[in-house]
This record gives sequence, structure tokens and C-alpha cells, in this order.
Amino acid sequence: MTPIGLAVIGAGYWGPNLVRNAMATPELRLEWLCDLDEARARAVLGRYTTVRPTASYERVLEDPAVAAVAVATPARTHFELVRAALDAGKHVLVEKPLTPTLAEGAKLVALAEERGRVLMLDHTFCYTPVVERIRELIRSGEVGDVQFVDSVRINLGLVQQDVDVLWDLAPHDLSILDYVLPPGVVPVAVAAHASDPIGAGRPCLAYLTLWLSSGAIAHVHVNWLSPTKIRTTVIGGSRRTIVWDDVNPAQRLAVYDRGVDLSAAGEDERHAALISYRTGDVVVPALPEREALRGVMGEFAAAIREGRAPRTDGRSGLRVLALLEAAQESIRSDGRRIDLGGYTR
Ligand SMILES: NC(=O)c1ccc[n+]([C@@H]2O[C@H](COP(=O)([O-])OP(=O)(O)OC[C@H]3O[C@@H](n4cnc5c(N)ncnc54)[C@H](O)[C@@H]3O)[C@@H](O)[C@H]2O)c1
Repeated sequence: MTPIGLAVIGAGYWGPNLVRNAMATPELRLEWLCDLDEARARAVLGRYTTVRPTASYERVLEDPAVAAVAVATPARTHFELVRAALDAGKHVLVEKPLTPTLAEGAKLVALAEERGRVLMLDHTFCYTPVVERIRELIRSGEVGDVQFVDSVRINLGLVQQDVDVLWDLAPHDLSILDYVLPPGVVPVAVAAHASDPIGAGRPCLAYLTLWLSSGAIAHVHVNWLSPTKIRTTVIGGSRRTIVWDDVNPAQRLAVYDRGVDLSAAGEDERHAALISYRTGDVVVPALPEREALRGVMGEFAAAIREGRAPRTDGRSGLRVLALLEAAQESIRSDGRRIDLGGYTR
């Protein structure tokens, strides 16, 4: 089978990771690396390659050998770049967040559908072995009913120029939730608080609460100012509790048979309840070591080849944007609860 011609747009921090993984994917053939700073693109490619560096996006889009583009430029540029690529008949893989507003994202999703082109989000974490396993644990019923989610993603991060911490980091947690929650469980309301203690002009730390249709609460803490890196997600279930510590490769995932049970007391104490604590085994699942972006590239190529929606399609990007916009509205109104009427998965 002839490989699919690909161009990567953006050779900054993240773009080179797309380049490396595209080159390692036999179903793709990397044709171009485009960056406004052509010297940067050239430096990323090195000397011994047939991939061409360019500063001209038009040139890339005019090339009939290019069937698909992967956009790794700052969020504020996504709308124009993705629209131009779809207009030129290319399939698109775009970095998170899809666009800085839901309205722009919706236009791109509609355009991709109209043109019959694949629009895929690089929700990278959804392609990691650990998130795959968490999804299985939840969907197989092993965890039981999800009672709470608590996610912390904090470190001394790059204070971005065009997005705040919510739009930079929370797409990871929100896309993971979107992927792992059981079918039918959806966020129904959002509240968020944020602050900018260094005077950066945009929130550098944020706390986000999501009420789920099942009655559970999910909480996300994102922060660019923490001197220590913490990336922990705890998912408490009625049967098991999952602890994912992404900075601990020796025990990235642990499944605890430990928790609190509440059982009704006898007839005569109808209103009383007994609380009992379970302290069972802790299981540390063996997970394959696999780079998530290889999965992203493989899925992009397969979706194009098979003419189907990818696992993290444009609509998954829109669901993330809807939550981000609601959180932003809540931050502006001092943490008011914002109801998400009509949110579906
Ligand atoms: N999936 C992930 O885990 C992950 C991680 C980091 C960043 N990202 C995303 O990747 C995107 C890029 O982030 P970054 O940190 O690499 O940014 P960056 O600023 O380091 O790099 C962006 C590059 O894009 C180039 N560029 C800007 N406008 C362009 C245009 N119109 N045409 C061609 N090149 C252009 C710039 O010259 C720069 O080299 C963002 O959307 C970010 O959210 C995703």
C-alpha cells in the first residue's frame, strides 16, 4: 500500500515529536516540515533526510503528494491553518485545544464533515497504555460505579503566550475523562476558580469541578507554578479505586480493593447504617511501554485509509471546548455553577 503523504506544521516544542513518530509510521510518508522559522524546521530534520523544510504553508497545501497535515502550532493559529487545509482537501490532525473558541471549532468540524475529510485531535493521553487500561477497568465494571475523580496536573510549566493554564493543561484531563467514563455518563455542570499570582495577565492555576450525570464529582487541578511535578489521577469506584501516578514509571497504575461500604442496619434500626472498611489487595497491572504518539499516528493513518472517524475525532475536541468555555464563564463569575444543557457524548 502506498503510504499517505503527510506534512507537519510547526517545529517548536511539540512538532518534533510528531515528526519523529510520523517517520516511524510505515503507513505515513513525511513530505514536509513547515515552520514560519524555516531554519528551525531545517534544524529539526537534520542533514540526512528527504523531508523538505519550508516556511510556506501555501506550498505545502499545493503539493498533491500531501494528503494530510498535522498542525502543531499555537492554538490561536489553529482555526486558519486547519480551515485552509480542509479547503485544500487535506485530512487534518490538530493539536489540543482544537481552537480558542467552541464556535470556531464547530465550524471546522462542520467543514471536515462537508468535505468528507478526517479531522482528528491529538488527545495524546488517550493513546497511552495506562489510559487504555483505565478505560477497560471502568468499562468492564471492575471499578464499579465511579464515585469520584480527582486529577492533579501541576508543575513549573511554560507560561504560554496565547492560552491560560486551563486551556493549556485541562484539555488533557478533560479528554481523558471523555474517553474513560462509562457510556451515558456525561458532565452536567461545571464550576471553576483560577488565579494569576505572578501577574502574567492570565490564570496560571485553576481548579475545575465537574458534576457528572451519575451524581459523581470530578475535580481537576492544573497549575504552571508548582515547583514539583505531580500528575496523579484517582478514580474512586464502588468496587475498586484506581490510582494513576504518571511520574512513577515503576508503579504508574495501582488498583486498590480498598474502600468504604455503607450497608443498611437491621430492621429495628431502619435509619441507622453500618460503615465498614475494606482493605483488600492492591494490584499493579503490567503495562506495555509504548509511545502514545505512535498510536496517534497509526490511528490517523487508519482513519484516513478506512474512511472512518478516528477515536479522538473533531467532536471529541468540541466536547473538550464546551467544558473549557463553561469553566471560563464560571471563572469570570466567581466560580458560579454553569449548567451544560444538551451536552452529549
Ligand atoms: N499533545 C500534547 O501533549 C501537547 C504537548 C505540548 C504542546 N501541545 C500543543 O502543540 C501546539 C504547539 O505547542 P508548542 O508548545 O510546540 O508551541 P511552540 O511555540 O513551541 O511552537 C510552535 C511553532 O509553530 C510555528 N508557527 C506558528 N505559526 C505558524 C504558521 N502559521 N505556520 C507555520 N508555523 C507556525 C512557530 O514558529 C513555532 O516554531 C499547541 O496547540 C499545544 O497546545 C500538545
